[in-house]
Amino acid sequence: MLQDIPTPTLREARACVLETERLTLRKPTLADVKAIARLANDRRIAENTRRLPHPYTQDDAIDFVRTLGAGGRETVFLIENNHTPIGMVGIDWREETAAELGYWLGVDHWGQGFGTEAARAVIDYFFEEFDLDQLIAGARVVNPSSRNILEKCGFQWSGVELHRFEALGSSSPVDAFRLSRGVWASLKSWNNSTRRRS
Ligand SMILES: CC(C)(COP(=O)(O)OP(=O)(O)OC[C@H]1O[C@@H](n2cnc3c(N)ncnc32)[C@H](O)[C@@H]1OP(=O)(O)O)[C@@H](O)C(=O)NCCC(=O)NCCS
Repeated sequence: MLQDIPTPTLREARACVLETERLTLRKPTLADVKAIARLANDRRIAENTRRLPHPYTQDDAIDFVRTLGAGGRETVFLIENNHTPIGMVGIDWREETAAELGYWLGVDHWGQGFGTEAARAVIDYFFEEFDLDQLIAGARVVNPSSRNILEKCGFQWSGVELHRFEALGSSSPVDAFRLSRGVWASLKSWNNSTRRRS
């Protein structure tokens, strides 16, 4: 149950900053709302994320950041590259047994591997910080780049579901994926072998 996730741990974890080779992932604040609105206000992003409205205004960003501050059920990180915001990644705790990974990047930042790098950081954070056995995620069936990210991170396809997308104003089929703690641990411990001529 969600109530069983110890609140102090969740709060502590929310304050975490995650660092990767090229990215810093940190909690968004009201100082970021201009940048968030500028990045998120693109139909190509909204149509692939369930709850992002389109157009996306600065007021939407303010509401979003305030909800996070009020202890909403999402753990969200602003993704920065060279101290510049480029997108968002997070975990939605809405369902009690199913924490869900989600992410989006400003269109100018697509195609450079940032999505995979940010997703991997949050997946590690999730399995290292929380005592849960699986993470779920979904990608619209017309969204091969997101599907590709999930597969590169070890997610396994679990079926097709229909979900409502706010910006579409309708429902759309989504490939559902799950990553178990066992698969994640196995991938993390899979060191390269070396070759030696006998
Ligand atoms: C999905 C998204 C985050 C991808 O970010 P990104 O930084 O461009 O992703 P990456 O570069 O890490 O990886 C994307 C992979 O998909 C591949 N890809 C991109 N377009 C593709 C296509 N049309 N068909 C197949 N593969 C494709 C890329 O080649 C890359 O794989 P590779 O590293 O093996 O070459 C970004 O496109 C986005 O924000 N989209 C809108 C929001 C969204 O879809 N969010 C996900 C909701 S589930």
